[in-house]
Amino acid sequence: MSDYYTETYRPQFHFTPEEKWMNDPNGMVYHKGVYHLFYQYYPDDIVWGPMHWGHATSEDLVHWQHKPIALFPDKHGLIFSGSAVVDFNNTSGFGTTDNPPLVAIFTYHLMEGEKAGRTDFQTQGIAYSLDNGATWTKYEENPVIGNPGIKDFRDPKVFWDAENDQWMMSLVAGDHLQLWASEDLKNWSKRSEFGKDKGAHGGVWECPDLFPLKVAGSEEEKWVLLISINPGAPNGGSGTQYFIGDFDGSQFTTEQTEVKWIDWGTDNYAGVTYNVLPKGFYGETYTNDPGQDRIFIGWMSNWTYARDTPTETWRSAMTVPRKLTLRKVGQGYDLFNYPIADLDTIIDAVAPSDIIIEAEKGKDFKFDQLNQAEVKFKTTKGDLSFGFQNDLKETLLLTFDTDENLFSLDRSTSGEVDFQEDFGKGIQKMPVPDLPNGEFEVRILLDASSIEVFLNKGQYVMTAQLFPRENYDTLHVENTSNVSMKLGDFAISPVNRIW
Ligand code: FRU
Repeated sequence: MSDYYTETYRPQFHFTPEEKWMNDPNGMVYHKGVYHLFYQYYPDDIVWGPMHWGHATSEDLVHWQHKPIALFPDKHGLIFSGSAVVDFNNTSGFGTTDNPPLVAIFTYHLMEGEKAGRTDFQTQGIAYSLDNGATWTKYEENPVIGNPGIKDFRDPKVFWDAENDQWMMSLVAGDHLQLWASEDLKNWSKRSEFGKDKGAHGGVWECPDLFPLKVAGSEEEKWVLLISINPGAPNGGSGTQYFIGDFDGSQFTTEQTEVKWIDWGTDNYAGVTYNVLPKGFYGETYTNDPGQDRIFIGWMSNWTYARDTPTETWRSAMTVPRKLTLRKVGQGYDLFNYPIADLDTIIDAVAPSDIIIEAEKGKDFKFDQLNQAEVKFKTTKGDLSFGFQNDLKETLLLTFDTDENLFSLDRSTSGEVDFQEDFGKGIQKMPVPDLPNGEFEVRILLDASSIEVFLNKGQYVMTAQLFPRENYDTLHVENTSNVSMKLGDFAISPVNRIW
């Protein structure tokens, strides 16, 4: 095997840039058999710097090809986060209806303006591509939305509102969302605001995404709004909250009163979804067409320590692509997120077996490559803990606590933690009030320097980075209750590398 992508801590089945700094996923769009993933990128260092849009493509969202940088800073500023659409009716006039342009919509951040103490240094610009993302041309009349004097005014996510025949843009403005509309992606008018008095406000609002989703098992449709906030996440630093509500063509509203989080771990930030095209848009042409599926990717880091993690040639990874599903739970709706089915193509599924862990007993499972594996089983609520361990006695600990109705993740002794003071501090906690009373699935993905935990097919999710100095090779399961517990269909399976 070549030594490409085998550096210490290098994820083997998650997207990482070949080298240097990466943050948010951007411009997630599917066109003619190709999934595009753009990302916040600084090509000169492994810390944040003048932002470009890096670019990668995939045909299955699992294997990726690195592409040249798509967007470079220009006289209007650095290229901050944003989205991309297939302008299928050529409303912009940049292409033709036979060859519709890809249009990227992003934030310009003018450093000189920020340094001079002005508040109007973030504006919105666009660029287009006529060769399915290979080359990009900036619109000569940029910016398309100027700044009204709001310091944090960014991260445009544009989608086609088929019902009202218009482009809609969600954009954040400090502590709230703004919705803007356009007919041609060039001229925009503001329609509404949302959120000053809704949701969590521990930090600035970033990276919005508004989209419709069918409620599973019904014909009902609701609108989902994702809002990342930094700081103010439930386990510290950066996190992503969501709202379920309605959209009437200009305004988003919700009756939701509680704050909801898409992920309770510390390392899933700035996540947004692939734009969905009108039903059957590509006909039967492509077997990998996502259709109406909503697929989410997040940045697997946290601004609290993103610049300090102990990697050397590159920094940070994306989450695995996850399919979003909306489900009615009690009186409200929960947004589930769970790995896309195609991820199974790189998992060498091992035959499962039922395991019984006696009351107040533990059991060790040996597995050489636990750091590149899937652990999967079914269980019921009970006082169980799962320790991922190596020869150095470093342990990442997951615990169910039925008294508190909590699931927790403790990485304080998981490996290198002292590169930053907060990284190893505290136990990450996730309340799990609505887990089923019967059996549910626990699915865990480990990949070199990350863990993703999905309870009940993505109802409750935790994503976290970790840096064990040696591979974990033992999973220790401990039953601290006074009844025996079953792990049904238990399997630890190797996951293949994607590079
Ligand atoms: C979120 C964010 C965005 C911004 C980008 C800059 O992580 O702060 O709001 O556009 O990163 O890189």
